[in-house]
Amino acid sequence: MSHREVILAYPGDEPLACALAASRPGALAEPLELRQFPDGESYVRLPAEVKGARVSVVCSLYQPDSRFLPLAMIASTARDLGAERVDLLCPYLSYMRQDERFSPGEGVTSRYMASLLCGLFDGLVTMDPHLHRHPTLDELYSIPNACISSAPALARWLKQYPGPLVLVGPDEESEQWVVALSETLGAPYMILNKTRMGDREVEIDASSLRHHEGATVVILDDIISTGRTMAKTVEHILAQGMRAPICVGVHAVFADDACALLKQVGAREVVTCNTIPHPTNQIDVNATLADGFWRWRATVTDR
Ligand code: R5P
Repeated sequence: MSHREVILAYPGDEPLACALAASRPGALAEPLELRQFPDGESYVRLPAEVKGARVSVVCSLYQPDSRFLPLAMIASTARDLGAERVDLLCPYLSYMRQDERFSPGEGVTSRYMASLLCGLFDGLVTMDPHLHRHPTLDELYSIPNACISSAPALARWLKQYPGPLVLVGPDEESEQWVVALSETLGAPYMILNKTRMGDREVEIDASSLRHHEGATVVILDDIISTGRTMAKTVEHILAQGMRAPICVGVHAVFADDACALLKQVGAREVVTCNTIPHPTNQIDVNATLADGFWRWRATVTDR
């Protein structure tokens, strides 16, 4: 029996929705209507095609506090109209960093966000979520899920640089992404140590940094938010007398002046994947995400 595949893009996420449709014969990317009533509530209208179909919603969850509720309305409408299943392809999954109660009374918001999304969707596919104290997404998400690595796309992009590359991870949390890229590229890496004192205050212990004469230095992190982690790392690399580094972030969160700050402290280039729209998006991961999504979907539906 063949199933109808309907893909719905959250406004702005159409390029990934089109990549998803293009990589599955017969899948249709259908337009939806989403707007705000004058009082700020969301109006949602979905195409009739969702009835009885397998619906995949494409939505990156940056600025989650404003994007989540309309997304919840889209998922609920799809279900209400009789979709057979509703999955989420979410290139950037936010609310992953507050994964513990660090001070009494704090909310463990990673868990609460997971519980909200699990109530809305049958499955979730994302790219390089910030897994730190939880080694897998399954510890937070009870629905079937898959985490797709950006490492192959990053490696393809970095191969344009001639000569040796050396990778630097600014903190222990970055090690997982740095190791994946180092294995794909066959390049050496160094991991530094970070102490966070506040949202915009970090110290980096760079005692493990070693001078690599003539190498192109690449700092890799999953998220660039305030840019303070990257900026401190750039300063240490320059202080060692190495060449100005390339700052690579998977997810271009970029709060406030983060991108300008990195240029100001001497980064040679600031580059990100297009999981969050930003002028630094030089690395296109849409094909990687589309391919990973359909592979995962086959594991949960074609049994
Ligand atoms: C958390 O540790 C992440 O891996 C990043 O290092 C962090 O989100 C970067 O934050 P910021 O750009 O604000 O220093």
